[in-house]
Amino acid sequence: MSYDLDQFIAECRATLQKDPGPAGREAIRLRLESLLQNKDFLQQHCSDETPAGLHVLHDDPELGFQVLAHINEKARISPPHDHGHSWAIYGQATSHTDMTEYERVDDGSNPDTAELKVIKQYRLMPGQAGIYQDGAIHSIDYPDKSRFVRVTGTNLDNITRSRFDPKTGRIAQMTPQRAT
Ligand SMILES: [Fe+2]
Repeated sequence: MSYDLDQFIAECRATLQKDPGPAGREAIRLRLESLLQNKDFLQQHCSDETPAGLHVLHDDPELGFQVLAHINEKARISPPHDHGHSWAIYGQATSHTDMTEYERVDDGSNPDTAELKVIKQYRLMPGQAGIYQDGAIHSIDYPDKSRFVRVTGTNLDNITRSRFDPKTGRIAQMTPQRAT
């Protein structure tokens, strides 16, 4: 039998209760890749029949993590951004997402600007999941009909996050999220 959403949520809960740190999240990333092999799950939550938009598949009342399906119709390039004190795992369901990871090379003393250096670039293909630990900065670039499932440590709409102008390094606070 295929690994399904209920099993995935139960495993997220058990894992985060035991180890909420980077190793626990890495275990969740691997299980998300298993969930993305489930054709019934993909058909129900990430197919041409799924209405476009952001769907909350799970909002954990106790631990606060969320499982979200991002059903994107139109291509989008995000600016570099963080996920505040949270973390995020992106699991590709259809098409692809180009990921760029950055590190700050300034000393962090200026609250208004940052200097970013690209440290990693890769393409997430269907069935692959990428992890962005707390404080990590990344940007995403996807074509029309790219769909992905995201797991976040908390509801990102409720926390302070930063985005960075790629040209000037200027830091701005993010407003409630889109698919970033
Ligand atoms: Fe992001």
